[in-house]
Amino acid sequence: MMDSDSIYTDKFLDHFINPRNVGEIENPDGYAKVGDPQCGDYIKVWLKIEDDTITDYKYKVFGCGGAIATTSVVSELAIGRRLRDAIDLTDDIVIQALGGIPENKAHCSLLGIQGLRTALADYFIKQNHLRYEERLDLYRRYGYNITMARDRLVKKFTASPDSAKMLDIGTGKGHLALALARAGFRCVSVDVSKDELHYASLNALYFQLDHLIDFQNHDAARLSFEPHSFDGIASADLIHHLPDPQPVLTEMLRVCKPTGRIIITDFSQKGFEIMNEAHLSEGRIHPVTGWKIEKVAQWFADKNCHVQSVEEVCEIVLIIEPILST
Ligand code: FES
Repeated sequence: MMDSDSIYTDKFLDHFINPRNVGEIENPDGYAKVGDPQCGDYIKVWLKIEDDTITDYKYKVFGCGGAIATTSVVSELAIGRRLRDAIDLTDDIVIQALGGIPENKAHCSLLGIQGLRTALADYFIKQNHLRYEERLDLYRRYGYNITMARDRLVKKFTASPDSAKMLDIGTGKGHLALALARAGFRCVSVDVSKDELHYASLNALYFQLDHLIDFQNHDAARLSFEPHSFDGIASADLIHHLPDPQPVLTEMLRVCKPTGRIIITDFSQKGFEIMNEAHLSEGRIHPVTGWKIEKVAQWFADKNCHVQSVEEVCEIVLIIEPILST
């Protein structure tokens, strides 16, 4: 119901004068700071999450009465809600919960919702990252350090990070894309699996390297890039998953500049043994359906490329220069 002298509903005024759940949460599960570009106001949001449910939503508003009232209502709507339902909250629901707000204040209702969604994204990223770290730890226990292996691979590129166009094929969880980004390269990173790309993007976000990586959903056997588009092409631990990698290798050669480098790595015998043990420890089988890396080296040599093979800790790295094929 409207106060006779006010353009605001009683509910709006109540939330403005007595905002609920104001404050901060120590060690929050999700955090966000979001602003409204229309007016420059911003809010900070802290979330506590247990058993897939938001158990607390605290906030601080640095802005107008509209931002205070709407964020207060969002906190009430969010607390006690399952995560999958909380994601579906909209600013329309917030406006309805206040019994309406004046047209010129409609944009204020976006802040609380935006804060909620961004804090939830922060939570999801942290959760995924935790799983990612557990996996890396498992491999490390078996003597395979993926991060160091990828950094070593990237050092084999001679192109300058400032200007080189790089392509990472079969990015999986994004280990190689992250290594390229750590070295300052911008890269396009492709994978046929949307799930893997989602996971890889979360990792890039977590490490704040997402601005350097363009994740794209592609079948590596049918890339849509122009011929000779890239100065460097990299692929790690993909070959043993491909029953016939030849269409992928053909695409690598097609999109690589004649002066560029293709670097492909896959497990050595020792690497395969380590992966088998690591997977078995989790009750899984490490799937190996494809070619061995030595066969790939021969394939490129037959195409008149210069191929150098380097044995690393658990892997064999091929450095391929296609210049002889032009
Ligand atoms: Fe800035 Fe309301 S005027 S959020």
